[in-house]
This record gives sequence, structure tokens and C-alpha cells, in this order.
Amino acid sequence: MMIQETRRTAPTAATAPITNAIAVASGKGGVGKTWLSITLAHALANLGRRTALIDGDLGLANVDIQLGLSPDIDLADVLDNDVPLAQAAQRHQPTGLDIIAGRSGVASLATLSAARLASFGRGIADLSGRYDRVLVDLGAGVERPVRYLAAAAQRTLVVTNDEPTSLTDAYALIKLLMQDGAKTKVSVVVNAAASRAEGERTYKTLAKACDTFLKMTPPLLGVVRRDAKVRDAIRAQVPLLTRHPGSDAARDVEAIAQHLAQAS
Ligand SMILES: Nc1ncnc2c1ncn2[C@@H]1O[C@H](COP(=O)(O)OP(=O)(O)O)[C@@H](O)[C@H]1O
Ligand SMILES: [Mg+2]
Repeated sequence: MMIQETRRTAPTAATAPITNAIAVASGKGGVGKTWLSITLAHALANLGRRTALIDGDLGLANVDIQLGLSPDIDLADVLDNDVPLAQAAQRHQPTGLDIIAGRSGVASLATLSAARLASFGRGIADLSGRYDRVLVDLGAGVERPVRYLAAAAQRTLVVTNDEPTSLTDAYALIKLLMQDGAKTKVSVVVNAAASRAEGERTYKTLAKACDTFLKMTPPLLGVVRRDAKVRDAIRAQVPLLTRHPGSDAARDVEAIAQHLAQAS
């Protein structure tokens, strides 16, 4: 497929990135951001990295659902009642992660004001001092909260699959981040690929559009293969690395985690 260039939008202010924060974004929903965030965070914890996972899909919490948690404190408490982010971090024994859960169906989270978004960003910066890595699972779309939180992180993983809509949306997100002047290091993860070679082909389509229209080429961080065990683990609400260690998707995510554990 070809990605077509369209109109430009006005840039917004850039933010100084948090060095050990990694945002997971995609533009399109349903490409595996939440699953990848959980599994990557788990793999980083298995590598001995103190890791926190923040459900940053404001208003549509999913991390707790995929893991079968019932958090007694969550982001709505943090953002509505000024509870410090660190207090909302709950240790998840099976993975060793500290998880900051979101809350679904809360309009005040879905439509966060610029001031509260900034205070959330500062909260993440404060929290990040306690961890080696902080992963932020972002919501779908290319709206302000998504771009703000991506820009706040040193790295943004843009997740795509081989569907044209997913590629187009990933490109749109990268383009907007560039126009915003975001300092985050964007890299690409191709998820649910039929094979590594197919995943690399998908990456090249996106990379070519970025190269042609944006004069930048985000690197490929990794390809995660399509694996029926992912759905099985999610349905069971058990992390993939616990339920199906050694599966194709588990090994692919572990390879990415190795990289993220080393890279600054
Ligand atoms: N590598 C994969 N192989 C097979 N299915 C996958 C894979 N990654 C994700 N999925 C499927 O995609 C669905 C959506 O994943 P999710 O993490 O909720 O996406 P998002 O957060 O981007 O909306 C999952 O429920 C799972 O069934
Ligand atoms: Mg999600």
C-alpha cells in the first residue's frame, strides 16, 4: 500500500522527555498496545529492571482487565483527588511490576485539561526516579493527551500491524509528533506479523512514508509475530510470559525488552 500525504496542522509546544519513560502508542486502536505494554514491562521486570506500568489510556482502562486485577486505587484518584502517583502504584506479585491502573468510563479522565495533563506529566517524572523503566500504555487516537504523554517520554514505541488503517494512523501519529517538535525517540514495533519477513515489509512501508514526507526514518525496534497464545493468555487474564513462556510472541517481546533494558 501507499501512504498518502495530506494537509499540515499547527505544531504545539514540546516537553522535556523523562529519561527512563517509554510510551506505547499507535494511532489506531486494537493493534496490541496494552498487551505489548504489559508483556514488555513483564519482560523488563524478568530482566531485573525495576519497572512500573501506567495505564495511560485515559477513560478506557484496560491493563487491569488484561491482568484480572481489581485495583483499590487508580488514576481517577490521582487526577481527581490529587493522590500522588506513587501512592497509586500497586505491586503485582505474579509479574513483579508496580501497576498504576486506569479507570474506565470517567469523563474527567477522558477530557483532561491541559493543566491536569501537565500535572500528570510531572507526576510521571517524579515517579520515574523510583524505577529503572516506566512504561505508559497510551490510548488510541492522535489527540492532545496521547501526543503530550508520548512527548513526555524519552522513547515512544509506535505499534502497527500490516493493515492499511493501522499503518496510516501510525504515520499520522509520527507526523504530528514531529510537527509538535516532540523530543521523544520514535521507534516502530510491528505487531501480529505473519512472519518476521512480513513484519519487516510492513515496517518498510511505514519507514518509506516517513522518509519521503517527514525526512526522518524511525528505526524498527522489533517484530512480534501473530500468535494464538496471545489471545488465549488475555482471555485467561494471565500474562503471556507466565502462561506461555517460550511462545513465539513471548520470545519476540523478550528480544525487544533486551534492547530496552540496555538502551538509555
Ligand atoms: N501478537 C499478537 N498475536 C495475536 N493476537 C494479538 C497479538 N497482539 C495483540 N493481539 C490481539 O489483539 C487484541 C487487542 O489488543 P490490545 O492490547 O487490547 O490492543 P490496543 O491496546 O492497541 O487497543 C488482543 O485482545 C489480542 O487478541
Ligand atoms: Mg489498549
